[in-house]
Amino acid sequence: MQNRIDRSRRRFMCHAGLGALAVSALPGWVRAMEMQAMAKLAPNRASPGFNPDVEIDMAAQPGLASILPGPSTQVVQYVAQRVKGPDGTVAELPGSYLGPLLRLHRGQKVRINFRSKLAEPTIVHWHGLHVPAVMDGHPMHVIDNGETYVYEFEVLNRAGLHIYHPHPHELLGKQLYQGLAGGIIVNDEEESKLELPSGEYEIPIIIQDRRFDAQNRMAYVPTMHDRMMGYYGDRILVNGRPEMALDVASRAYRLRFLNGSNARIYKLGWSDGTPITVIGVDGGLLETPETLPYVMLAPGERLDVWADFSGRAKGSEFTLRSLPFQGVLPKMAGRMMGGGMGGMGGGMMAGMALPVGSDFPIFKVRVTRTTSDSPKLPGHLSSFKRYTLAEVANPAKPIPIGISEAPMAMLLNGRPYKFDDVQPNERIPVDTVQLLEIFHAHGGEGGGHGAATQSEGGHGGAGGDKPQGGMGGGMMGGMGHGMMGGGMGGMGHGGGQSGGMGMMGGMGGGMMLSMAHPIHLHGQQFQTISRGIGAGEAEDYATVKDGFIDSGLKDTVLVMPGEKVRIIKPFQDFKGLFVYHCHNIEHEDMGMMRDFLVE
Ligand code: C2O
Ligand code: CU
Ligand code: CU
Repeated sequence: MQNRIDRSRRRFMCHAGLGALAVSALPGWVRAMEMQAMAKLAPNRASPGFNPDVEIDMAAQPGLASILPGPSTQVVQYVAQRVKGPDGTVAELPGSYLGPLLRLHRGQKVRINFRSKLAEPTIVHWHGLHVPAVMDGHPMHVIDNGETYVYEFEVLNRAGLHIYHPHPHELLGKQLYQGLAGGIIVNDEEESKLELPSGEYEIPIIIQDRRFDAQNRMAYVPTMHDRMMGYYGDRILVNGRPEMALDVASRAYRLRFLNGSNARIYKLGWSDGTPITVIGVDGGLLETPETLPYVMLAPGERLDVWADFSGRAKGSEFTLRSLPFQGVLPKMAGRMMGGGMGGMGGGMMAGMALPVGSDFPIFKVRVTRTTSDSPKLPGHLSSFKRYTLAEVANPAKPIPIGISEAPMAMLLNGRPYKFDDVQPNERIPVDTVQLLEIFHAHGGEGGGHGAATQSEGGHGGAGGDKPQGGMGGGMMGGMGHGMMGGGMGGMGHGGGQSGGMGMMGGMGGGMMLSMAHPIHLHGQQFQTISRGIGAGEAEDYATVKDGFIDSGLKDTVLVMPGEKVRIIKPFQDFKGLFVYHCHNIEHEDMGMMRDFLVE
């Protein structure tokens, strides 16, 4: 036991890079890391009774990738080999540093032997898959260099696109950014019968943004400002490669989008104004296709798109873009920092080449072949269980997920992530269906003050109630100093650590932030049953409101500033700890994560 604590402490000191500081002097979100490191458990081993249909050896390891012209880029990547199972179970993405695509089928029993070759703790989470708690990659299950964690689960999900990515608390942002991510495609009988475009006509599109320095290094060096707002890049990569161009035939394609960015939210639209036809979201196919002018895609979300190029002339070109929108970053900050920038949501990022909410291309499509033979879009896609309020265990008392955003304290229900800190309203009886309400506990102008009363005693912790009193002059004063002074210095002149810190100091006086948060719940997918925003946010909201798809099953939902979202989620089959968190990974690493204990 002594030995374990020593080892954990050493590990903690070393990734915090804070060896000289006394632990007691550190903010809560850093101390939480130590607690979690101490909670390390023995890695799961293979169980002799489990007879897999598919077995995969997987490792996380440093590597070199040729991403931009010039020097190669140091990355960290998942490499995998099929040990057992059908051909095509492990499919490399050509030329990509990302992990291979894993193709699984509903009902398969899967064993994955995951080995870490990293000098820091890691663990893999199968985002979207409904698996037992010990197979879910909970942060408490992190392993060390040289250790192997054996995952064994049955694929219970219906057809859909999911993600595998690391889940060590406080290191997730860094590891995801450096390259640890891959896609999982699950197929099932219902989907096969539709004969949707497949093979070369089904294309994974994993979107990420990255910053490269002059030596092509893709460093993850978040300032305090980056930790608060998210770590953004100024270059878009698709499937790990820059400037993607897709040569297509004049027929229908199935484009399978996954937002693998740490923090960036996209508003996807075709350059020529063609609406987007969506056939599926996070949890698989919709019942019927939906056509939208544009679609919002936040980190962790997936989108199944029917892209029909039939009838298009050879030589025609289209661009899939991220269209302009507002409201992702703190509004007041955006306005103030943006100055003459027209008050765009991207104001906060004015010093950056690719502001959040700006208009930029993601990839290009060129029609290089004509054909007259194209599949037709099915009118009916799938059927799935839809819950009503009559079936939930708590129709009058939704489980609160109160988002609070304060400097140094990105919290849920007033508390930062801490291992073994399950609160009464985080205990959920297994095999129940629950109503949950996600809201801004300090929701800016319009927000969730009323709703906040539902978070039982939630306001106690760090960054608690102070901002409320400061609403008037005090807050403005604090912001004026902090944001304009320290913050501007940080951003305007290239985001140095001291600038970022300066901003934090200024904000510490009790400023409220109101940002967009993609809230993700592990375990089974949920239904979004209602959304609503406070009056103060309507103008920004108008720029995104037609881009949400609430008719499908989701595991990540984008909650805009001032917005309140109600969801119904089943908690079936598996007991244990399942995290829920913001999928702006910097927020997650800052503590915007909690556990549900299903019991
Ligand atoms: Cu992709 Cu815990 O999440
Ligand atoms: Cu997940
Ligand atoms: Cu967030």
